[in-house]
Amino acid sequence: MSKSISYRFTHSEVKYYFNARFSALQKLTGKDKTVLITDENIYRNHTSKFRGWNTIVLKPGEAFKVQATVDSIIDQLIAFQADRQFTLVGIGGGVVTDLTGYVASIYMRGISFGFIPTTLLAMVDASIGGKNGIDVGPYKNMVGVIRQPSFLLFDFTFLSTLPDGEWSNGFAEIIKHACIRDIAAFRLLEKNNLALMKKDRKTLYALIERNCRLKSGIVQRDEFEKGERRLLNFGHTLGHALETQYTLSHGEAVAIGMTYACHFSAGLLGFNGTGRVVKVLEQYGLPTHAAFKTEKVFQVLKMDKKRVRSEMNYILLEKIGKGIVLPVPLKELEKWINNIQS
Ligand SMILES: NC(=O)c1ccc[n+]([C@@H]2O[C@H](COP(=O)([O-])OP(=O)(O)OC[C@H]3O[C@@H](n4cnc5c(N)ncnc54)[C@H](O)[C@@H]3O)[C@@H](O)[C@H]2O)c1
Ligand SMILES: [Zn+2]
Repeated sequence: MSKSISYRFTHSEVKYYFNARFSALQKLTGKDKTVLITDENIYRNHTSKFRGWNTIVLKPGEAFKVQATVDSIIDQLIAFQADRQFTLVGIGGGVVTDLTGYVASIYMRGISFGFIPTTLLAMVDASIGGKNGIDVGPYKNMVGVIRQPSFLLFDFTFLSTLPDGEWSNGFAEIIKHACIRDIAAFRLLEKNNLALMKKDRKTLYALIERNCRLKSGIVQRDEFEKGERRLLNFGHTLGHALETQYTLSHGEAVAIGMTYACHFSAGLLGFNGTGRVVKVLEQYGLPTHAAFKTEKVFQVLKMDKKRVRSEMNYILLEKIGKGIVLPVPLKELEKWINNIQS
């Protein structure tokens, strides 16, 4: 078993096992009191790992991050006769980890859970920070909780079966972290590109760990999102609205959201790094522009959790590596989006 590091959050401690093996899970939680939750793609690619474990296999994809899936997981937990001593382990991307954390938080008023993230995005972002929830219609993550897992086990070998498009999704969040808080990581990203990073596993694994630590530090300082944690929404306000209205992946939508936020930052704060951000996004296979109907997107955007009455707490960049939160009137926001579109 690799060495663990611990992060202490408000209510609990989370153990992180970097460079670990899936097989080490047995040392963390016994097979008789554990239910694994995964999706069909991961199960198909890694079937032998699940042998001997109680396992719930979900249909893959964001469309299933909904209440109906929660109900079906609960039915299956009851069929396994899972009691309060059980642990749920989500093995998958952000859809699986969000669902697992949410169900574990409400089943029998809360049982323990852990994650083995299998996408780059889940490794650097979704598995960290305790936000777990589901979508409601076009509204992403509308219902959920903040509750920390007991452990995170990182088995980087899962990445060997990750489909090509999913790599860019993960890099969107890595670029986000670099933009808001980590200029050194941004420079490292600039010097590399997607193909190089996929080959250079040593650099990649170190970058994943660096991102986990960066996000964990932010969450630790502001677990319930009163201030600093809001920065992690960089690119996500417009991104989420685009993602639910058009067929874009999360990473693509966030990349477009970040580009627009750079343009707002230039106009509102004199930010001069838009070109560099756009270039890095392109180096990692991400889009930086989309033609969309502002009106349609704005209907969803207005419902974002970061809205306070007629203002939106928007995440902007003062410079690369320094994000800030600025309340922007909705009217002004709409005007900006229209300007960039035309
Ligand atoms: N809780 C949070 O703080 C947080 C943060 C960021 C994102 N999220 C959520 O995460 C979700 C996106 O996560 P995602 O990008 O990981 O998507 P995902 O879970 O849908 O996984 C992407 C695809 O890759 C497949 N897959 C996963 N691992 C694989 C592997 N090792 N080999 C082969 N195929 C594999 C999945 O079956 C799926 O088809 C969104 O719902 C988003 O809201 C949550
Ligand atoms: Zn995201």
